[in-house]
Amino acid sequence: MSYWQELEQKYFMRTVERVPVTLVRGEGTWVWDEDGRKYLDFVGGWAVNTLGHCHPAMVNAVVEQAHTLIQASNQFYTVPQVRLAELLVQNSCLDKVFFCNSGAEANEGAVKLAQRYGKRHLNGAYEVITTMGSFHGRTLAMVAATGQPKFQQPYVPLPAGFINVEYNNIEAIKVATTKQTCAVMLEPVQGEGGVNIPDNNYLTQVRAWCDQEGILLILDEIQTGLGRTGTLFAYEQYDIEPDIMTLAKGLASGIPIGAILAKERASVFTPGEHGSTFGGNPLACAAGYATLKYVLDNDIAGKVKSVGQYLITGLESLRQKFQFITDVRGRGLLVAMEFSRDIAGSVVMACLDRGLLVNKLSPNAIRFMPPLIIGNDEVDEALDILGRALSSITA
Ligand SMILES: Cc1ncc(COP(=O)(O)O)c(C=O)c1O
Repeated sequence: MSYWQELEQKYFMRTVERVPVTLVRGEGTWVWDEDGRKYLDFVGGWAVNTLGHCHPAMVNAVVEQAHTLIQASNQFYTVPQVRLAELLVQNSCLDKVFFCNSGAEANEGAVKLAQRYGKRHLNGAYEVITTMGSFHGRTLAMVAATGQPKFQQPYVPLPAGFINVEYNNIEAIKVATTKQTCAVMLEPVQGEGGVNIPDNNYLTQVRAWCDQEGILLILDEIQTGLGRTGTLFAYEQYDIEPDIMTLAKGLASGIPIGAILAKERASVFTPGEHGSTFGGNPLACAAGYATLKYVLDNDIAGKVKSVGQYLITGLESLRQKFQFITDVRGRGLLVAMEFSRDIAGSVVMACLDRGLLVNKLSPNAIRFMPPLIIGNDEVDEALDILGRALSSITA
């Protein structure tokens, strides 16, 4: 164990099983550890490093903003916040934006917004229907929203107002809807819960049901947004529009930020009902603007679609070779590989030893969420390392 890892053990709360490597530098799709070893990064800060590590467009925007204005309270107007809000609205189906600092905070705010809508338009309805296998964040309310017992059990009793139903099952949503329901909240593709892709008509059916009942549809695009699945937002692939959408992770390519976007009719907060000290901070918004502008100007989403398909095809050929691979699934550059045995931890370590970072999604699955700027060459390199790593597992 290295010096830094020993210090971490001494001083840091144990909330995560870390991979034994200390990263000190990153450039593009590559990162380096404290001993100068180089790794191809297919974890991407957990689907955050949209433009890779230290992309000049991002670095220049952050440096320039750091020299200009870093923080001002939301009592005042600031320019980067308005510019980013405008760009988001111009490139989505939503009309109004609120900025915060993380995904959980964005979702928490989205639920507050839906509950305000319920108070105003739905006779005080406040319940939100969410799905099993979802992941919406770590605040208490978002743990209640997250339909996974392992995250909920340590914190029972949880805040009221969340009904978790089966994913990809419209009937389950219908049955759970009552006079108290103000919204349904979903990930278009469940990320953390397993890279679960719903049937093509699921979101259309949910949208139609929400319209019929007069309740709101909140899409959590925190992991799927900003081009990750091959379109700027995943909802575009299902031909529906959410009433509220949340973003975070890749929005500022590594600088903490979250956003709630809403249709005009769902944008019901009045002054004082919601807020944030750092939310919409000029530094984070300058990074967000630089990221989104780059993604748009360079058709990153379109490139993700083709490089993602190339990755999936390559993983499928590995599946032909290794019988213990039971499934490969994904959209764009959000991809999972599942095994018949609980070998994900060993695969992660075997990849690490050979210079590739991948994420353990569950005991029997790994996930790939590299920076969105990768090309087929990097995919070839990752597939080569993964293939060798998998061979070492069978041996
Ligand atoms: C879909 C989704 N929503 C919310 C979150 C929570 O985001 P954060 O960790 O920034 O609070 C995550 C994080 O993995 C996520 O994948």
